[in-house]
Amino acid sequence: ADITLLGVPLDCGKARRGCLMGPDAYRVADLAGALAELGHDVHDAGNLTPAPLRDVRGPDHLVALPQVVAWTEALITWGAEATGMPIFMGGDHALAMGSVAGMAARAERRDRPLFVLWLDAHSDFHTPQTTASGNLHGCPVAYFTGQPGFDAFPAPPVPVPADRVCMIGLRSVDPAEKDALQSAAVATHDMREIDETGIARPLRSFLAHVQSAGGDLHVSLDVDFLDPAIAPAVGTTVPGGATFREAHLVMEMLSEAGVVTSLDLVELNPALDERGRTAALMVDLTASLMGRRIFDRPTQSFGG
Ligand code: ARG
Ligand code: MN
Ligand code: MN
Ligand code: MN
Repeated sequence: ADITLLGVPLDCGKARRGCLMGPDAYRVADLAGALAELGHDVHDAGNLTPAPLRDVRGPDHLVALPQVVAWTEALITWGAEATGMPIFMGGDHALAMGSVAGMAARAERRDRPLFVLWLDAHSDFHTPQTTASGNLHGCPVAYFTGQPGFDAFPAPPVPVPADRVCMIGLRSVDPAEKDALQSAAVATHDMREIDETGIARPLRSFLAHVQSAGGDLHVSLDVDFLDPAIAPAVGTTVPGGATFREAHLVMEMLSEAGVVTSLDLVELNPALDERGRTAALMVDLTASLMGRRIFDRPTQSFGG
Protein backbone atom coordinates (compact mmCIF):
# COMPACT_ATOMS: atom_id res chain seq x y z
CA ALA A 1 0.00 0.00 0.00
CA ASP A 2 0.92 3.64 -0.35
CA ILE A 3 1.24 4.67 3.31
CA THR A 4 1.49 8.25 4.57
CA LEU A 5 2.65 8.77 8.14
CA LEU A 6 1.29 12.04 9.53
CA GLY A 7 2.53 13.30 12.91
CA VAL A 8 -0.21 14.95 14.97
CA PRO A 9 1.40 16.33 18.15
CA LEU A 10 -1.98 17.26 19.62
CA ASP A 11 -1.70 17.26 23.42
CA CYS A 12 -4.70 19.34 24.46
CA GLY A 13 -7.43 16.70 24.82
CA LYS A 14 -6.60 16.38 28.54
CA ALA A 15 -4.48 18.13 31.19
CA ARG A 16 -1.50 15.77 31.52
CA ARG A 17 1.09 16.50 28.86
CA GLY A 18 3.36 14.16 26.94
CA CYS A 19 1.44 12.91 23.89
CA LEU A 20 3.03 15.64 21.78
CA MET A 21 6.15 13.46 21.83
CA GLY A 22 4.23 10.53 20.33
CA PRO A 23 5.03 11.17 16.65
CA ASP A 24 8.76 11.32 17.36
CA ALA A 25 8.60 8.19 19.51
CA TYR A 26 7.10 6.33 16.53
CA ARG A 27 9.86 7.71 14.31
CA VAL A 28 12.53 6.61 16.80
CA ALA A 29 10.92 3.15 17.01
CA ASP A 30 11.18 3.12 13.18
CA LEU A 31 7.56 2.68 12.21
CA ALA A 32 8.49 3.69 8.66
CA GLY A 33 11.20 1.04 8.41
CA ALA A 34 8.96 -1.72 9.78
CA LEU A 35 6.34 -0.96 7.12
CA ALA A 36 8.83 -0.53 4.28
CA GLU A 37 10.27 -3.94 5.15
CA LEU A 38 6.83 -5.42 4.39
CA GLY A 39 7.01 -3.99 0.88
CA HIS A 40 4.92 -0.87 1.38
CA ASP A 41 5.67 2.51 -0.13
CA VAL A 42 6.02 4.70 3.00
CA HIS A 43 6.16 8.50 3.18
CA ASP A 44 6.59 10.53 6.36
CA ALA A 45 4.63 13.73 5.77
CA GLY A 46 6.10 15.36 8.90
CA ASN A 47 3.91 16.96 11.53
CA LEU A 48 0.59 18.67 10.91
CA THR A 49 0.10 22.26 12.13
CA PRO A 50 -3.21 23.29 13.73
CA ALA A 51 -5.40 25.94 12.07
CA PRO A 52 -5.20 29.48 13.54
CA LEU A 53 -6.88 29.78 16.95
CA ARG A 54 -10.36 31.25 16.86
CA ASP A 55 -12.41 32.79 19.63
CA VAL A 56 -14.78 29.90 20.33
CA ARG A 57 -17.21 29.51 23.23
CA GLY A 58 -18.23 26.41 25.15
CA PRO A 59 -18.81 25.12 28.68
CA ASP A 60 -16.20 26.69 31.02
CA HIS A 61 -14.72 23.46 32.33
CA LEU A 62 -13.59 22.24 28.89
CA VAL A 63 -9.81 21.88 28.62
CA ALA A 64 -8.18 23.78 25.73
CA LEU A 65 -11.31 24.04 23.57
CA PRO A 66 -9.89 26.53 21.00
CA GLN A 67 -6.80 24.36 20.52
CA VAL A 68 -8.82 21.18 19.95
CA VAL A 69 -11.05 23.03 17.48
CA ALA A 70 -7.97 24.29 15.61
CA TRP A 71 -6.52 20.78 15.31
CA THR A 72 -9.89 19.39 14.22
CA GLU A 73 -10.11 21.94 11.41
CA ALA A 74 -6.61 21.16 10.17
CA LEU A 75 -7.21 17.39 10.32
CA ILE A 76 -10.47 17.57 8.40
CA THR A 77 -8.85 19.66 5.67
CA TRP A 78 -5.85 17.33 5.46
CA GLY A 79 -7.86 14.11 5.61
CA ALA A 80 -10.49 15.02 3.05
CA GLU A 81 -7.72 15.34 0.43
CA ALA A 82 -5.54 12.43 1.57
CA THR A 83 -4.71 9.55 -0.74
CA GLY A 84 -3.59 6.00 0.01
CA MET A 85 -3.44 4.76 3.60
CA PRO A 86 -2.91 7.53 6.17
CA ILE A 87 -1.54 6.62 9.59
CA PHE A 88 -2.18 9.38 12.13
CA MET A 89 0.65 9.26 14.68
CA GLY A 90 -0.78 10.98 17.78
CA GLY A 91 -1.17 12.80 19.88
CA ASP A 92 -4.09 12.12 22.19
CA HIS A 93 -7.49 10.75 21.22
CA ALA A 94 -9.00 14.20 20.61
CA LEU A 95 -7.27 13.88 17.23
CA ALA A 96 -9.90 11.32 16.17
CA MET A 97 -12.48 14.07 15.88
CA GLY A 98 -10.62 15.38 12.85
CA SER A 99 -9.04 12.19 11.55
CA VAL A 100 -12.35 10.34 11.39
CA ALA A 101 -14.33 13.33 10.11
CA GLY A 102 -11.68 13.81 7.42
CA MET A 103 -11.69 10.14 6.45
CA ALA A 104 -15.50 10.21 6.27
CA ALA A 105 -15.32 13.13 3.86
CA ARG A 106 -12.78 11.25 1.76
CA ALA A 107 -14.88 8.07 1.77
CA GLU A 108 -17.89 9.97 0.52
CA ARG A 109 -15.81 11.35 -2.36
CA ARG A 110 -14.91 7.73 -3.21
CA ASP A 111 -18.56 6.81 -2.88
CA ARG A 112 -17.91 4.31 -0.10
CA PRO A 113 -19.39 4.16 3.40
CA LEU A 114 -16.86 4.69 6.20
CA PHE A 115 -16.85 2.28 9.15
CA VAL A 116 -14.89 2.83 12.38
CA LEU A 117 -13.32 0.23 14.67
CA TRP A 118 -12.67 1.78 18.10
CA LEU A 119 -10.08 -0.21 20.08
CA ASP A 120 -10.08 1.40 23.52
CA ALA A 121 -10.71 0.86 27.22
CA HIS A 122 -12.99 3.90 26.99
CA SER A 123 -15.99 4.67 24.81
CA ASP A 124 -15.03 8.38 24.40
CA PHE A 125 -18.72 9.12 23.84
CA HIS A 126 -19.06 12.24 25.99
CA THR A 127 -20.35 15.54 24.64
CA PRO A 128 -19.03 18.90 25.86
CA GLN A 129 -22.14 18.98 28.07
CA THR A 130 -21.78 15.53 29.66
CA THR A 131 -18.01 15.33 30.26
CA ALA A 132 -17.19 15.71 33.95
CA SER A 133 -13.42 15.92 33.40
CA GLY A 134 -13.66 18.50 30.63
CA ASN A 135 -11.13 16.46 28.67
CA LEU A 136 -12.06 16.47 25.01
CA HIS A 137 -10.17 13.23 24.32
CA GLY A 138 -13.24 11.68 25.96
CA CYS A 139 -15.56 13.12 23.25
CA PRO A 140 -14.46 12.15 19.71
CA VAL A 141 -17.00 9.39 18.99
CA ALA A 142 -19.93 11.63 19.92
CA TYR A 143 -18.50 14.34 17.64
CA PHE A 144 -17.93 12.31 14.49
CA THR A 145 -21.24 10.45 14.80
CA GLY A 146 -22.99 13.83 14.80
CA GLN A 147 -24.36 14.01 18.36
CA PRO A 148 -25.58 17.49 19.37
CA GLY A 149 -23.57 19.87 21.56
CA PHE A 150 -20.44 20.49 19.50
CA ASP A 151 -21.40 24.00 18.36
CA ALA A 152 -17.87 25.34 18.90
CA PHE A 153 -16.55 22.84 16.33
CA PRO A 154 -16.87 22.77 12.57
CA ALA A 155 -19.78 20.45 11.77
CA PRO A 156 -18.37 17.06 10.69
CA PRO A 157 -18.71 17.22 6.86
CA VAL A 158 -20.10 13.67 6.73
CA PRO A 159 -21.20 12.31 10.13
CA VAL A 160 -20.53 8.58 10.54
CA PRO A 161 -23.81 6.81 11.36
CA ALA A 162 -23.52 5.26 14.83
CA ASP A 163 -24.38 1.82 13.47
CA ARG A 164 -21.13 1.85 11.49
CA VAL A 165 -19.04 2.12 14.66
CA CYS A 166 -17.79 -0.92 16.59
CA MET A 167 -16.04 -0.63 19.96
CA ILE A 168 -13.92 -3.45 21.33
CA GLY A 169 -12.05 -3.50 24.65
CA LEU A 170 -14.37 -1.38 26.82
CA ARG A 171 -13.85 -1.44 30.57
CA SER A 172 -14.23 2.19 31.64
CA VAL A 173 -17.51 3.78 30.59
CA ASP A 174 -18.89 6.76 32.55
CA PRO A 175 -22.61 6.76 33.51
CA ALA A 176 -23.52 9.51 31.02
CA GLU A 177 -21.75 7.63 28.23
CA LYS A 178 -23.54 4.44 29.18
CA ASP A 179 -26.90 6.19 28.96
CA ALA A 180 -26.04 7.74 25.62
CA LEU A 181 -24.73 4.45 24.22
CA GLN A 182 -27.92 2.69 25.24
CA SER A 183 -29.93 4.82 22.86
CA ALA A 184 -27.29 4.91 20.12
CA ALA A 185 -26.68 2.12 17.61
CA VAL A 186 -22.93 1.78 18.29
CA ALA A 187 -21.83 -1.87 18.66
CA THR A 188 -20.15 -2.15 22.06
CA HIS A 189 -18.06 -5.14 23.12
CA ASP A 190 -16.75 -4.93 26.67
CA MET A 191 -14.00 -7.03 28.24
CA ARG A 192 -16.63 -9.18 29.94
CA GLU A 193 -17.80 -10.29 26.50
CA ILE A 194 -14.23 -10.78 25.26
CA ASP A 195 -13.48 -12.99 28.28
CA GLU A 196 -16.45 -15.15 27.49
CA THR A 197 -16.45 -15.42 23.70
CA GLY A 198 -12.93 -14.46 22.70
CA ILE A 199 -11.97 -11.36 20.77
CA ALA A 200 -12.27 -12.93 17.29
CA ARG A 201 -16.03 -13.37 17.40
CA PRO A 202 -17.21 -9.75 17.59
CA LEU A 203 -14.45 -8.67 15.22
CA ARG A 204 -15.33 -11.32 12.64
CA SER A 205 -18.97 -10.27 12.53
CA PHE A 206 -18.06 -6.58 12.21
CA LEU A 207 -15.61 -7.32 9.39
CA ALA A 208 -18.26 -9.35 7.58
CA HIS A 209 -20.54 -6.32 7.80
CA VAL A 210 -17.85 -3.95 6.43
CA GLN A 211 -17.00 -6.33 3.60
CA SER A 212 -20.60 -6.86 2.54
CA ALA A 213 -21.20 -3.08 2.52
CA GLY A 214 -18.06 -2.47 0.43
CA GLY A 215 -16.87 -0.03 3.08
CA ASP A 216 -13.66 1.76 3.97
CA LEU A 217 -12.52 0.99 7.52
CA HIS A 218 -10.80 3.44 9.84
CA VAL A 219 -9.15 1.84 12.89
CA SER A 220 -8.60 3.99 15.97
CA LEU A 221 -6.12 2.30 18.32
CA ASP A 222 -5.82 3.82 21.79
CA VAL A 223 -2.77 2.58 23.73
CA ASP A 224 -5.03 1.86 26.71
CA PHE A 225 -6.88 -0.81 24.71
CA LEU A 226 -3.84 -2.87 25.71
CA ASP A 227 -3.24 -4.21 29.19
CA PRO A 228 -1.05 -1.82 31.23
CA ALA A 229 1.36 -4.68 31.92
CA ILE A 230 2.42 -4.68 28.26
CA ALA A 231 1.70 -1.00 27.46
CA PRO A 232 2.53 1.30 30.39
CA ALA A 233 3.02 4.51 28.36
CA VAL A 234 -0.45 6.02 28.66
CA GLY A 235 -2.00 8.43 31.15
CA THR A 236 -5.32 6.60 31.41
CA THR A 237 -4.31 2.98 32.14
CA VAL A 238 -7.16 0.64 33.07
CA PRO A 239 -6.39 -2.90 34.31
CA GLY A 240 -7.70 -5.89 32.42
CA GLY A 241 -6.93 -4.86 28.87
CA ALA A 242 -6.18 -6.79 25.70
CA THR A 243 -3.27 -9.19 25.90
CA PHE A 244 -0.34 -9.27 23.52
CA ARG A 245 -1.86 -12.17 21.57
CA GLU A 246 -5.39 -10.73 21.51
CA ALA A 247 -4.05 -7.46 20.13
CA HIS A 248 -1.98 -9.17 17.46
CA LEU A 249 -4.90 -11.41 16.48
CA VAL A 250 -7.07 -8.33 15.97
CA MET A 251 -4.40 -6.79 13.74
CA GLU A 252 -3.88 -10.00 11.77
CA MET A 253 -7.61 -10.43 11.14
CA LEU A 254 -7.86 -6.81 10.05
CA SER A 255 -5.02 -7.37 7.63
CA GLU A 256 -6.61 -10.50 6.18
CA ALA A 257 -9.95 -8.75 5.75
CA GLY A 258 -8.29 -6.27 3.39
CA VAL A 259 -10.63 -3.40 4.29
CA VAL A 260 -8.55 -1.05 6.47
CA THR A 261 -7.94 2.29 4.76
CA SER A 262 -6.68 4.48 7.63
CA LEU A 263 -5.36 4.19 11.19
CA ASP A 264 -4.96 6.31 14.34
CA LEU A 265 -2.21 5.50 16.84
CA VAL A 266 -3.21 7.55 19.88
CA GLU A 267 -2.54 8.31 23.55
CA LEU A 268 1.10 7.18 23.58
CA ASN A 269 2.84 9.27 26.27
CA PRO A 270 6.57 8.63 25.84
CA ALA A 271 7.30 10.31 29.21
CA LEU A 272 5.57 7.34 30.85
CA ASP A 273 7.24 4.64 28.76
CA GLU A 274 9.82 2.08 29.89
CA ARG A 275 12.80 1.99 27.51
CA GLY A 276 10.45 2.56 24.56
CA ARG A 277 8.64 -0.73 24.90
CA THR A 278 5.12 0.65 24.42
CA ALA A 279 6.17 2.49 21.27
CA ALA A 280 7.86 -0.68 20.02
CA LEU A 281 4.69 -2.72 20.68
CA MET A 282 2.53 -0.18 18.81
CA VAL A 283 4.95 -0.42 15.87
CA ASP A 284 4.76 -4.23 15.92
CA LEU A 285 0.95 -4.14 16.05
CA THR A 286 0.89 -1.75 13.09
CA ALA A 287 3.21 -4.12 11.21
CA SER A 288 0.78 -7.00 11.92
CA LEU A 289 -2.05 -4.87 10.60
CA MET A 290 -0.06 -4.15 7.47
CA GLY A 291 0.81 -7.76 6.71
CA ARG A 292 3.57 -9.08 8.98
CA ARG A 293 2.86 -12.77 9.66
CA ILE A 294 4.36 -15.85 11.24
CA PHE A 295 3.17 -17.88 8.22
CA ASP A 296 1.42 -16.24 5.29
CA ARG A 297 -2.35 -16.24 5.12
CA PRO A 298 -4.45 -15.11 2.19
CA THR A 299 -7.00 -12.33 2.23
CA GLN A 300 -10.23 -13.80 3.52
CA SER A 301 -13.91 -13.16 3.35
CA PHE A 302 -15.53 -13.07 6.77
CA GLY A 303 -18.78 -14.25 5.27
CA GLY A 304 -21.07 -11.19 5.30
N1 ARG B 1 -14.25 9.02 30.31
C1 ARG B 1 -13.12 9.68 30.88
C2 ARG B 1 -13.22 11.18 30.68
O1 ARG B 1 -14.10 11.64 30.01
C3 ARG B 1 -11.82 9.12 30.32
C4 ARG B 1 -11.62 9.37 28.85
C5 ARG B 1 -10.35 8.73 28.38
N2 ARG B 1 -10.20 8.91 26.98
C6 ARG B 1 -9.08 8.63 26.32
N3 ARG B 1 -9.06 8.90 25.04
N4 ARG B 1 -8.04 8.12 26.94
O2 ARG B 1 -12.40 11.92 31.16
MN1 MN C 1 4.61 6.79 -3.21
MN1 MN D 1 -9.58 6.83 23.76
MN1 MN E 1 -8.76 5.10 26.28
